[in-house]
Amino acid sequence: MSDQELMDLARKAAENSYSPYSHFAVGAALECEDGTIFTGCNVENAAYGDTICAERTAAVKAVSEGHRDFRRIAIWGNSREYCYPCGSCRQFLQEFSKHMTVLCGKGDGTFVSHPLSEMMPFAFDF
Ligand code: THU
Repeated sequence: MSDQELMDLARKAAENSYSPYSHFAVGAALECEDGTIFTGCNVENAAYGDTICAERTAAVKAVSEGHRDFRRIAIWGNSREYCYPCGSCRQFLQEFSKHMTVLCGKGDGTFVSHPLSEMMPFAFDF
């Protein structure tokens, strides 16, 4: 699957976003090493801090289905800036796959690609 196709899945996943508080819909498409894809969206809550980001939704779906080796993740938000993953999601992803690639998209459909290791240097681990 091309980067563009993975990003298209992320954009589609954003349609299921539950974001009545921020009104910012985010979608993610996570590709595992064996090619399996898990999608996710952000799921907000009246207790704002309980919100789950799209990336973590996808990662939790994957791990709970027995997939721990991630190759790429595409993230799409209807924003003017590229939708980069928050610090918590970077930490969460690197727990499983320090060498994965992160594609960050924005409203106009363009996206950039970065190694996770570049976005999360000196991540906590033990
Ligand atoms: N959000 C994500 O789902 N992923 C990101 O990478 C950035 C932020 C969500 C969380 C919240 O529902 C909304 O975007 C505004 O922060």
